[in-house]
Amino acid sequence: MKGLILAGGTGSRLFPLTQAITKQLLPVFDKPMIYYPLSVLMLSGIDDIMIIVSPEDEPNFKRVLGNGEHFGISISYCIQKKPTGIAEAFLLAESFLAGSPVTFILGDNIFYGHGVPQLIDDAQRNNTGATLFGHYVNDPERYGVAELAKDGKILSLVEKPTHPKSNIAVTGLYIYDEHVCEHAKRLVPSDRGELEITDLNNRYLESGQLSLSILGRGTAWLDTGTHESLFEASTFIQVLEQRQGLKVACLEEIAFRQGFITRDKLKARASFFNNAYGEYLTKIA
Ligand code: DAU
Repeated sequence: MKGLILAGGTGSRLFPLTQAITKQLLPVFDKPMIYYPLSVLMLSGIDDIMIIVSPEDEPNFKRVLGNGEHFGISISYCIQKKPTGIAEAFLLAESFLAGSPVTFILGDNIFYGHGVPQLIDDAQRNNTGATLFGHYVNDPERYGVAELAKDGKILSLVEKPTHPKSNIAVTGLYIYDEHVCEHAKRLVPSDRGELEITDLNNRYLESGQLSLSILGRGTAWLDTGTHESLFEASTFIQVLEQRQGLKVACLEEIAFRQGFITRDKLKARASFFNNAYGEYLTKIA
């Protein structure tokens, strides 16, 4: 299973905040936003990851994450020249994926919850076709929305419906089989000129190969789409971390616990940070 993160886009909804730096590198309390989706992939055991970025931001991502060696994983980069749709990720990443199934996550999606890694792990093992993850929200019109039958089967998927048929938003975390690039190649741009992720998912739905796993009440799927929600996401992480004395999405800690790096490597990395983050890594080591 390979990992793919889409972290391009213009970030124009957050201007002027994102005029000089992309949204996915903005701070969410004590880490850049990209740490959070990357942690989701690492927690599910994935160690071969491609990040799709805009040409202007590639050097910044490399400065923050490098080639992944600090986390004992491989990180490669791919340029998306213009944000012409989320599903374009699979045209850009075709040679990286090389026929492998993939866990795909949007670089601005933050998940938190005890059961999340297990849920993803189960979905990765049982996936036939594609698996989506749903989350209840009170503003479904801002997202892809799933309508479910009583037995949990997906009846319809609609992108940002004016009259949503449910409160189940489709989150930016997806698992696809080895045919995802073939499906993506057959998509046509939508009215707004984008290759839509919901159109890709609808192809799987039409062939009876789409499942949806609901992230329960004990899970947080944080919004980062507005200035207010971005600020709240930082506060959420701060409250958790300060109360528990444990960090959320600390990539070095996850790498150590997953066996991607040794204790000595963790100690060496800790000494790079002359601050509380470094002290935390030393404590973990
Ligand atoms: O967050 C979940 C939602 O993400 C889903 O419910 C929707 O079905 C899905 O379409 C998407 O909706 P958004 O309105 O959040 O999509 P947005 O255009 O904001 O893009 C999401 C992220 O992907 C954003 O950080 C920018 C990045 N992106 C987007 C496009 C269209 C790219 O890197 N390249 C692109 O071409």
